[in-house]
Amino acid sequence: MTHPNVAAVVVLAAGQGTRMKSALPKVLHPLGGRSMLGHVLAAVEPLAARHTLVVVGAGRETVAEHLAATAPGARPVVQEEQNGSGHAAAVALAAVPDLEGPVLLVNGDAPLLRRETIGALVDAHTAAGNVLTVLTAEVDEPTGLGRIVRAEDGGVLAIVEERDATDAQRAIREVNAGVYVGDAAALRRALDRVGAANDQGEQYLTDVLGLLVAEGARVGGERAADPVDVLGCNDRRELAARRRTLNDRVLDELMRSGVTVVDPATTWVDVTVTVGPDALLEPGVQLQGTTSVASGAVVGPDSTLVDTAVGEGASVVRAHCVGAEIGPDVSVGPFAYLRPGTRLHAGAKVGTFVETKNAEVGAGSKVPHLSYVGDATIGEGSNIGAATVFVNYDGVHKHHTTIGSHARTGADNMFVAPVTIGDGAYTAAGSVITSDVPPGAMAVARATQRNVAGWVARRRPGTAAAKAAEAARGAAAGTATDTGTRGSE
Ligand code: UD1
Ligand code: CA
Repeated sequence: MTHPNVAAVVVLAAGQGTRMKSALPKVLHPLGGRSMLGHVLAAVEPLAARHTLVVVGAGRETVAEHLAATAPGARPVVQEEQNGSGHAAAVALAAVPDLEGPVLLVNGDAPLLRRETIGALVDAHTAAGNVLTVLTAEVDEPTGLGRIVRAEDGGVLAIVEERDATDAQRAIREVNAGVYVGDAAALRRALDRVGAANDQGEQYLTDVLGLLVAEGARVGGERAADPVDVLGCNDRRELAARRRTLNDRVLDELMRSGVTVVDPATTWVDVTVTVGPDALLEPGVQLQGTTSVASGAVVGPDSTLVDTAVGEGASVVRAHCVGAEIGPDVSVGPFAYLRPGTRLHAGAKVGTFVETKNAEVGAGSKVPHLSYVGDATIGEGSNIGAATVFVNYDGVHKHHTTIGSHARTGADNMFVAPVTIGDGAYTAAGSVITSDVPPGAMAVARATQRNVAGWVARRRPGTAAAKAAEAARGAAAGTATDTGTRGSE
């Protein structure tokens, strides 16, 4: 795919998006890991245009902030009043008065557009030597879209919006995709003459086509290879449908590359995620953001991974992970919550009902059950007893706990940070560890046990407990006799 540089890309994104019924500007609604606008910008990226202008209007501050954060190369251009897509295009071109050559204009609400489709349009435009080329699609359900009116010889004549169309024009199934390549000078000339004598009283970008045809300019209509690409997104039902389509595309590509997806219907993978061959995604998995899953790893069932890296051969079962690094052959879950700053080295284990945050777990170390590990470093080959809490917060500040390598800490420990447990040290079950433990030492930090004999009989007489205790004492006495008899045989 080769195409000469397009001089500029103009994304039309100023519209209200009334049909979304949302406080969020329409083009910022997310799907598949990007905003609608983000998908459009990704599709035009390979054009490497010198200027990328985004026309903003409704919710302009929010859209401009989003651009600054996600596409700093794109420049917002404000359309003060939303007088139509033609007016929006004119405002954009006025912002680059010296610009010449081909300009790509694209609606900001077309999240399924692919870079290949845009590339093909630009190539067709260039090959035909057109002044304007519009991307079109043959669809079964053209309702609401602009229709492409062609002459007998097949040449495009006009685009007619549905609300302005005759019955005969409404029967046309070739529609305007809302993507155009046009010569800057010709666009400026035509946009100057676009009126607003239509049902909405707006200046339509689509009218440019008819005006240029009337001038005798070379104008073309290029059909998209896949009509799905051109589907816009105007309300929440279309948003759900577009999200599903994007997801299907991502999963198809993953399966083609050797990933097993057990249940595509309940597996959701952002376009920004990478998954290696022979990885296996069980039902109910969501992979989001910059998440990567290496070869041979198994994720799921029922796991959500956000900005998380999973190493080769790791297993992540029923887990919620955000900003975590899961090393090769690590085992996570079932039922684990890994929060940002979690780093699990090769062969480590974070087991059932364990939460971690800003925590490094060394190679082969295990936190198997019912624990909170916050602000901690654990060396290699250590084992953390069940129901351990890394007490990291004094109510004002967070403090760090360091556990060495090959340590064995007892069940139900509290590590009151800041505290350090040396290499090869042990701690007793039920300890509240407030002081450092030297390497190889055994720390016991709990009250010594005291048994008050006969307390239940005296203080809880007649209860089930008292009766059970009495019976046990009697049985113990009998057992002692029996054992004595057997022992003499
Ligand atoms: C538009 C096309 C229609 C095409 C369809 C494809 C026009 C007149 N019609 O219809 O032929 O089939 O897209 O999806 O263009 N915008 C602005 N400023 C404005 C008005 C709109 O920036 O003043 C932007 C919108 O944010 C949107 C785009 O222009 O991204 C198209 O506007 P929209 O109202 O969605 O047009 P459609 O009715 O979908
Ligand atoms: Ca639209």
